[in-house]
Amino acid sequence: MFDMLEYRVFADVPEAPQTEPQRQLFFAELCHREVEKLTTQLGHAPVAVTQTLGCQMNARDSEKINGIFKTAGFVLGTDEEKADYVIYNTCTVRENANLKVYGRLGYLHSLKNHKPHLKIALCGCMMQEPQVIEKIRESYSFVNLIFGTHNIYKFAELLYLSLTEKKQVIDIWEGTDQIVEDLPIDRKYAFKSGVNIMFGCDNFCSYCIVPYVRGRERSRLPEDIIHEIEGLVADGVVEVMLLGQNVNSYGKGLKEKIDFAGLLRRIEQIDGLRRIRFMTSHPKDLSDDVIAVMAASKKICRQLHLPFQAGSTNILKKMRRQYTKEQYLALVDRVKAAIPDISLSTDIMVGFPEESEEDFQDTLDVVRKVGFDHAFTFIYSKRSNTPAAANKNQVPEDVVKNRFERLLHEVQQRSRSGAARLTGVTAEVLVEELNLKMNGYVTGRLDNNMVVHFPGGEELIGRFCRVSLDECKGFYFIGERVADE
Ligand code: SAH
Ligand code: SF4
Ligand code: F3S
Repeated sequence: MFDMLEYRVFADVPEAPQTEPQRQLFFAELCHREVEKLTTQLGHAPVAVTQTLGCQMNARDSEKINGIFKTAGFVLGTDEEKADYVIYNTCTVRENANLKVYGRLGYLHSLKNHKPHLKIALCGCMMQEPQVIEKIRESYSFVNLIFGTHNIYKFAELLYLSLTEKKQVIDIWEGTDQIVEDLPIDRKYAFKSGVNIMFGCDNFCSYCIVPYVRGRERSRLPEDIIHEIEGLVADGVVEVMLLGQNVNSYGKGLKEKIDFAGLLRRIEQIDGLRRIRFMTSHPKDLSDDVIAVMAASKKICRQLHLPFQAGSTNILKKMRRQYTKEQYLALVDRVKAAIPDISLSTDIMVGFPEESEEDFQDTLDVVRKVGFDHAFTFIYSKRSNTPAAANKNQVPEDVVKNRFERLLHEVQQRSRSGAARLTGVTAEVLVEELNLKMNGYVTGRLDNNMVVHFPGGEELIGRFCRVSLDECKGFYFIGERVADE
């Protein structure tokens, strides 16, 4: 649909290997030499700051970027003012994510005026839009490096080019069928990790830009996924989040006949792994087999993120979601019957073109009938070149805002009362971090993803603790640690 422009650049180093990942490891080493020169020049090792916008997929990609930065000898930081290299991993699913980047670029430009050696890079979903690249080339010539979603594995080579070239480096691919394994990754958390099981999306929901910017669906080989998780577990990881735009269609196109249920069964066997989560599940593909595997599993968390987007069958059809309101509700009933303690979360959109008050009432009806523990609510945002953007009957802004507020009220009321059902229960919490607001407290998550704060110290991070859930504060609990069984 996009009138895509391809830009391909290669570093002109004849001795560089042609195979991956060897080529990138070679360039990481060359970067290391550049970093040594920079260290002498600056009097300290250069600091790299990676800013991540968007979803879990981008968060995982940023860990890959940081893996290369670290291998190249950069120190990872969070403060842009102290940075020598800043990269924005962008999102474009809604317009506000996109606008944020231009805002930040203005600020980065002023930083660069004071610190001319500062390098600025942009990558991620927004860079797959040709009009964005045009705009950056024209108006943001101070950006040193631009690349997209398909060539992130090439970051070491691109980093080398950006450190050695004066001119703007652009590398954008229209698509790829390649998956490069075994590159270094720097995890944000020692004890939990995202794991890509597939890339891209073939669903083309009529409002959504993701299939255009993330390309066609590609599944990783099961043995590569298992190998990665085994490595993570050996490195201290106890919880994994399997990532894909539609994990339920995992396995399509692979030589080996395997589906998502089959993959889950194999991951369950990995010794030392304690919790398995996954996202996102598309309702049209959630099979009874997956539900059965979840119900029988000791490791798959009692949590399911099942975006329904809209309650009206008429709107769902226009969204190309491929299920009706009744099918969604029936699916939820099957899940609840098989896994009674399941915690359900969802994504909901209001203001899709032509949405009437009656359509919106269907959305509220689904919220009431299902009882989600958590819902991400969004105002429909027109994305260029998607079919829904061409619809002349966009809903007026004031009507959308009013519906959004009513939806938020409904969702919050329900998740508050839903959470309270756990009051007084003792449950296992995986401790994630020190609580920055409450001195002497740590914060962790239950199997069902609910947040719990309780008194404790740094030594508990990454450990499972039994906690009595004493006080429900709506979206989280305050608890007290009890002795392990
Ligand atoms: N693959 C996932 C969704 C990924 S995008 C799925 O199909 O469930 C995350 C969420 O962003 C979507 O579920 C949707 O609610 C929202 N979203 C996507 N495109 C949007 C748009 N154009 N405007 C507003 N919200 C959008
Ligand atoms: Fe977008 Fe639909 Fe694909 Fe989800 S399934 S990423 S909403 S096109
Ligand atoms: Fe955004 Fe790309 Fe994720 S558009 S939501 S970062 S797949």
